Amino acid sequence: MIRSQIIGTGHFLPEKVLTNKDLEQFVDTTDEWIVQRTGIQQRHMANDGEGASDLGAPAALRAIASAGLTPEDIDLILCCTMSPDYLFPSTACLIQSKIGASRAAAMDVNAACSGFLYGLSVANAHIQSGQYKTALVIGSERVTNILNWERRDTAVLFGDGAGAVVLRAAEGDRGILSMFLGADGTQGNLLIREGGGSKYPITPENYASGLRDIIMKGQDLFRRAVVVFGGAVQKALEQNGMTSDDLDVFIPHQANVRIIMAAAERVGLPEEKVYLNINRTANTTSASIPIALDQACAEGRIREGSIVLVASFGAGLTWGSSIIRW
Ligand code: ACO
Repeated sequence: MIRSQIIGTGHFLPEKVLTNKDLEQFVDTTDEWIVQRTGIQQRHMANDGEGASDLGAPAALRAIASAGLTPEDIDLILCCTMSPDYLFPSTACLIQSKIGASRAAAMDVNAACSGFLYGLSVANAHIQSGQYKTALVIGSERVTNILNWERRDTAVLFGDGAGAVVLRAAEGDRGILSMFLGADGTQGNLLIREGGGSKYPITPENYASGLRDIIMKGQDLFRRAVVVFGGAVQKALEQNGMTSDDLDVFIPHQANVRIIMAAAERVGLPEEKVYLNINRTANTTSASIPIALDQACAEGRIREGSIVLVASFGAGLTWGSSIIRW
């Protein structure tokens, strides 16, 4: 059986760091509130003039190098992002040009914070169908550029960053063992940014009336997230006939420590198997899982043969999970 094996990982976090204390200087918030409610202590922030492609390209190159390949070996590039450089052309095409992967097809995938899992699933399907042999899946977000710093409910939650993985068709029992995706478009208003698209284009009126802001119904989202994210984790175990004892590490989307630990508790997963970096990176939406995968590999938390569970939830609503034998 042909499986998609992850043969390389990489990430890129901008040098500039904004701590909660730094935020206190210009956002009506406190370090204590942010840490208690979310677990976030700091976030990275890209430089002026940088977009998602500027973060995604170095992450992609690192993943390709760690796979022992060159950009010319890549057949397909998927860039998962909800903060693309432009509405079009896609950020995947911009990255293709930046890294010189001239043989690759390229497109974006937008499923907000679940983007990486959706992208992984698309790449996996292409590989299993035999259409492509080598795929690059990037999660890249320049979210701080679309925040309104006057909206403290969302301004404190997000950070910039990018992560990437290289998938390769391979025989054997290593690779993606299962994929599960879900969506509930009726709950789209729980987390939404209406302005800047085709319905509410950029006009002075739309800008002034707050349509460029990310609007979040935090408590409702929290309640739904606990249900769908916990459900996705459980589903992954069921699909593979596994229990939490079979898992070596759980790499969750990093949105809120409380939501993550509720999901872990639901399946009886001990804290030491949960990988957390939200304190350092905040919520980097579709970049959070590939960043965490690369960090967990570098720290020895993921090794050859490890059974890794990844799961996410995000705007849409969207959610998903996967189990990977590394
Ligand atoms: N600093 C200080 N006070 C704040 C802040 C802030 N940054 N933000 C809100 N508050 C205040 C509110 O005004 C409110 O004050 P009040 O009681 O005087 O009215 C109080 O804190 C409590 O606000 P709540 O919204 O009820 O706070 P809650 O405990 O629900 O925590 C949070 C908020 C952390 C956002 C939580 O609801 C949550 O994590 N929700 C899920 C969010 C999430 O996961 N988002 C990412 C989705 S993934 C994606 O696709 C992008």
